[in-house]
Amino acid sequence: MAVEKTFVMIKPDGVKRGLVGEIIARFERKGLKIKALKMKWLSREEAEKLYEVHKGKPFFEELVNFVTSGPVVAMILEGDSAINVVRLMIGPTDGRQAPPGTIRGDFALDIGANVIHASDSKESFEREYRVFFSDEEIVGDY
Ligand code: RTP
Ligand code: MG
Repeated sequence: MAVEKTFVMIKPDGVKRGLVGEIIARFERKGLKIKALKMKWLSREEAEKLYEVHKGKPFFEELVNFVTSGPVVAMILEGDSAINVVRLMIGPTDGRQAPPGTIRGDFALDIGANVIHASDSKESFEREYRVFFSDEEIVGDY
């Protein structure tokens, strides 16, 4: 398999509940490398851009309100098959359905407030990381 990058964002509920360290620790222990890291309070425009694929869906407004309700912690992670590996680690969207051992399974009990976002494809990664990072902010190999 190929080394690839993915974009991850700890949502406002995860930050407010003090789960940032716990979540980052899981990715580090897995062997994924942090290539960029930032805390940021998204504007409405930035949130709408991040979730533009969901524009028009019934939950879009609620989603934008939620992700702008407090600061988030965004990161770029790198590793073998990182996009799929991180999606497996975060678990399904609905925290009530997510298996124990996954981040949502261990920390979320809701479909909206579900602690974390991760890119679901290379195309999503390319669009999403640019909401937070310039290419200069991604560190080189280490
Ligand atoms: P994410 O994009 O945040 O990683 O989540 P996901 O792929 O697992 O789920 P997606 O379908 O892309 O939905 C994006 C986020 O919108 C909120 N949502 N609310 N109320 C609802 O029915 C509903 N459905 C989705 C969640 O915060 C979800 O993570
Ligand atoms: Mg998604």
